[in-house]
Formats: sequence, C-alpha cells, structure tokens
Amino acid sequence: MLLLKSLRGEKIPRFPVWLMRQAGRYMSQYRELRNKEKDFLSFCKNVELSIKASLLPVEILGVDAVIIFSDILVPLEPMGVKVEFLEGEGPRLFWDGRALKKLNFSQVEFVGEIIKGVKEGLKDVPVIGFCGAPFTLMAYMVEGGSSKEFKKTKGFMWKGEEYHRVMSLLVESLLEYLKGQIRAGADVVQVFDSWAMHMPYDDFEEYATTYLKVLFEELKKFSSVPVVYFFRGSGSFLRALKRLPVDALSVDWTVDMIGAMRESSKAFQGNLDPAVLYSDEETIVKKVRSLLRCIPRKTGYVFNLGHGLMPDMDVNKVRLLVETVQSYELS
Ligand code: CP3
Repeated sequence: MLLLKSLRGEKIPRFPVWLMRQAGRYMSQYRELRNKEKDFLSFCKNVELSIKASLLPVEILGVDAVIIFSDILVPLEPMGVKVEFLEGEGPRLFWDGRALKKLNFSQVEFVGEIIKGVKEGLKDVPVIGFCGAPFTLMAYMVEGGSSKEFKKTKGFMWKGEEYHRVMSLLVESLLEYLKGQIRAGADVVQVFDSWAMHMPYDDFEEYATTYLKVLFEELKKFSSVPVVYFFRGSGSFLRALKRLPVDALSVDWTVDMIGAMRESSKAFQGNLDPAVLYSDEETIVKKVRSLLRCIPRKTGYVFNLGHGLMPDMDVNKVRLLVETVQSYELS
C-alpha cells in the first residue's frame, strides 16, 4: 500500500494522496446519503451509511486512502457529554464534570463495524482511523461548542486541577478508542489537533505535550500502526511538534515544508492551502506541482491539504488536484 510505504520512508513511484474531509457536503453523492438521516450524529452511528460515505472518495476521486466517516466529537457522548449538531450551526456540548467517565470501546462498537465494512469494500487501499486530540476535545467541552477566542478554555486550563483530571480521562478514553479502531483493522491512525494553536507556546509543553506523549507512547507499545498528528497553525509550533513521538506530522500552509522536512526524520503530510481550490484549473496544477517539486526525498511524504475541504468547493477541481498529484512521477 502506497500510503504505508511512503509513511515508512520506503521508495515509491509517486506520492500518495488523500484529503481531509474528503467525504463531505461538496459531493452531491454525500448530500444524498446524508439526507437519509435527520441529524449528523445519527448519520455517524448508521454503520451502513457511514461505510458508503467513507468509500465515496475512492469511487469518485480515486484517492489513495480512506478516512472512516465519523467525527472527533463521537467518543465524547459515551463519556457522558451530550453532543448536538444543529443544522448549519456547528456542535453544542453539555456536560457535568462529576458525571464524566472513561469510554469503553463496546459503547462505540459501530466505529469498529464501520472500519471492518470499509475494509471489505477495498482492495489495496489503507483505512485511516482517527480521534481528536485531548486539548481540542477539552476546548470543545469547556466552550460548549466552537469558539474564536477560547476565553473559558484558557481560564479552565490555567486553574489546573480539574483540567488535569479531564485531560487524563480524555487520554485514557482516546487510547481505548484508537486501540479499538486498530483492532478493527485501521492501517493508520490520525489525531486531529484543531485548536491547540490558540494556546501560548510556553504552555504547550505543560498543558498539551504531557498528555500527547502518553497517548502516543502507549499507542506505540500497543501496535506498529503509523500515527499521524495533525496540527492546525503548525508553523509557530513546529519545534515542539518535531519532538513528539509520532511517525508523521500533518501540517498546514504556515509551515516551510522544505526546511521542516530537511531537519526532521519524521514523515510529513500536507500542506497545500485549501483555498487553492477556489482558483482556476491552471493555478491548481501549478500550485500542486510546485509543492511536489520542493519535497525533499529524505523521509516519507503524503500529499494532503493544510486543512479540510469546504462545502462550496467544486468536485471537478478536487478531482483535478488528486490526478495532478497521482500523475507526478518520481525518479
Ligand atoms: O475527513 C473526513 O472525510 C472524515 C470525516 C470527518 C468529519 N469531521 C466529518 C464531518 C473528520 C475526520 C472530522 C474531524 C473534525 N470534526 C475536526 C478536526 C479537523 C478540523 O476540521 O479541524 C473537527 C474540529 C470536527 C468538529 C466538527 N464537525 C465541526 C466544528 C462541525 C460543524 C461545522 C460544519 O462544517 O458544519 C462538524 C461536522 C462535520 N464533520 C461534517 C462532516 C462531513 C459536516 C456536517 C454534515 O455533513 O451535516
């Protein structure tokens, strides 16, 4: 499998490509499937529909990996957090610290079934399992949804005691959650840290790295499945990210890929600005090729965007992007 070879830094004929939020609203086939369930979380729990959604990007775009269709907020429900997705408004979360409990994979067995079902529908294409990073999930919980300034999160973090209890519980639960996904057959796991860039750099070590290290080290003890860590706003945090015990860093467009890859023994994933997809075809091809030309071949590389695809993107341009990566031959 091309993706696994590249993550291991082995010789490959071309770079593998998959895209974050590759099964999403920009695809009419996804919107059609999505209409079959009233709310987003019910859709995520519907094994048959989630398997179909996961496989759409292989059928329509021919990508080199499938990320299972789910959401980073899914494992919070069995921990005792009430999660709601209101149409067009994003998530809302409600919880009581005293009632929080560790997740048991049997509560989210549907995620394991989605992985098994997706694998049955594939030949030679790896399946990526995932979870949210502890800080990002904690931020969603404390803010009660999305946020711009993270005022409550930072106060909660600096206050300390309750923060450390919730973060430890998240790490234990996420570990159980990812181990369950690996047992079900996930070939790679990716941890999404969408909000950690909002914490002061000096706090990252104490309030995030401590927990991430436990998560990543325990995963390594459990299996040899490659672990990818996605960090939004990676540029300013790169020095800290490089020290984490993961196989690959998934970075956004704030990173100088050439510099970052030359100085690291890790594989990299990324980092094209998704806004390139709003340009014309010629620009898309040009931007993809100029990124690929720069990639140092010292360690592994997986093409991806710096963040997810957006609902108003044009599926034909997304296909062109995938084809451009796949037709770029390596010597
Ligand atoms: O990448 C994939 O194709 C796999 C599926 C996936 C989804 N969300 C599907 C989804 C993955 C890996 C995620 C991760 C996720 N979810 C992140 C981390 C990556 C990032 O974007 O930074 C985050 C922060 C979330 C939380 C989340 N999920 C929000 C804030 C929202 C609402 C905003 C919106 O776009 O509506 C979601 C909903 C969501 N997750 C949708 C999809 C396809 C859209 C909802 C729908 O289809 O009705």
